[in-house]
This record gives sequence, C-alpha cells and structure tokens, in this order.
Amino acid sequence: MNTTAAATSTKDKIIVALDVPTAADALSIVDELNGSVGAFKVGLQLFTSTGPDFVRKLVETGARVFLDLKFHDIPNTVAKASVEAARLGVWMFNVHASGGGEMLRQASQEVSEVCEREGLERPLIIAVTVLTSSNNDTLNEIGVQAEAQPQVLRLAELTAKCGLDGVVASPLEIEPIRAQIAPKEFVIVTPGIRPASATKDDQKRVMTPAEAVRAGADHLVIGRPITAAPDRLKAVEQIVEEMKAGGDPS
Ligand code: C5P
Repeated sequence: MNTTAAATSTKDKIIVALDVPTAADALSIVDELNGSVGAFKVGLQLFTSTGPDFVRKLVETGARVFLDLKFHDIPNTVAKASVEAARLGVWMFNVHASGGGEMLRQASQEVSEVCEREGLERPLIIAVTVLTSSNNDTLNEIGVQAEAQPQVLRLAELTAKCGLDGVVASPLEIEPIRAQIAPKEFVIVTPGIRPASATKDDQKRVMTPAEAVRAGADHLVIGRPITAAPDRLKAVEQIVEEMKAGGDPS
C-alpha cells in the first residue's frame, strides 16, 4: 500500500476532471489551476485523443495526475498496463474491482516490484466498485443477483484485502465504506460533487464538497463546476472556502 495516500491540505483534496477533447483545452485548464488544486484527472476521452505522451507532458509540469482508465482484463494484461501507468509517472490510477482478486493482487504486486526495481514512486492504485450509472436492474441484467449497495461494499472489501490503496465511491457510499470496511488510510475518491451554489448537470446523487469530506472522502473529483466556470480559479477558491467553512480540519 502507498503510504503517501492522505491529502495534506484542503486544496489538495480537489481533483479536477479534464473532460475535454484536446491537449490544448486541457493545458489551458492546467495552466490556470496548477498549484491551486491537488491533481488533474485524465479519463478515457482525453487519453484516447491525446495518448500517453500527453500524460508524460502533464506529469512534467509538476501536476499530479490521476489516470482514470479503469483497467479491466485478464490479470496479466491489467498488471502489465498498470506497470506502464506507473512508468508514466502518474500519482494515481484505477482498475475495476469486478476484475477479481487475482487481477487486483497481480496488478498491485507487479507495480510494487517494478517501482522498487526502477526507483519509481509507486502510484496509488484504487478500484472502481459499481459504476454509479449502474443500478439493481443493470446488475441483474448482467447476472449479478445482488443489490448495488451490498455489491459496492463487497467489492470495496475485496479491494482492501488485495492491498490496493482505495476506491472510487459515490457520495452516498462514502459513509458505509468508511464505517464497515475501510481502515483510516484507505483512500476514498468521490465524484458527483456540486458546490452549494452550482447546478447539478447530469449528476443525480450529489453532495457538496463539505458534506463529502465530512462523510469521509479524501479526494473530490470535480469537473464542470470548475472547468465550465467563467473564472476557474475563483470557482476553486470558493470550493476551498466552502470546505473550510464546513469544518474541513486540514
Ligand atoms: O463534471 P462533473 O463534476 O460531473 O465530472 C465528474 C467526473 O467524475 C467525470 O470525469 C466523470 O466521468 C467522473 N465520474 C463520475 N461518477 C462516477 C465515476 C466517475 O461522475 N461514478
């Protein structure tokens, strides 16, 4: 497990989702916010459009990068892809917990071995449990005879047992995961965050930044409330203030 998991300050808890199509779009956000937030998230859209060279470039700016590619394949393939993610120098990346224990353990083990051998900093490896776009019907459709919530807890427990660093969890899942499974150092990364004053966009189950941190989230993934704001830095400052006013102890 990575021991540098905990965020150190309120602003470091914020991960800005770079959900944009081009490197130029992403870099304009990074230029504006680097140093004012904890990390930037590169997901499937931006990665497919710009590739690993862009991720290297982002890492070179000094920004912390969360590579959100949600690996899910046979254990060997996920482990090898995970090693390449580590070699890119990202701060955190993720896999699907539903790939199973062997896949999770092998990824974690090979990343640790390669990082040690090559003198690299080991990235945080977190797992997606049940996507928030899935509900009980979606699970039944693919033959999972469980309700979403217990399935989330089961997969979070598996993730912790396999030595990964944490999970992605929707706002409503933070408390049960913290209470039932996760030791303190287990990282919970939460999307679906909307500042008190913002619109919800297409997010249905949302919490404010202060509520999510109070519930036990370590990092908040925030996209449009920051990236689509007329003044992005101001939007970040308001969110940080909201978190502090809500009792964030950092
Ligand atoms: O713009 P917004 O704040 O809704 O962006 C949230 C980000 O978090 C997006 O990149 C989205 O893909 C991601 N995410 C999410 N819900 C999940 C997992 C990831 O919104 N369950």
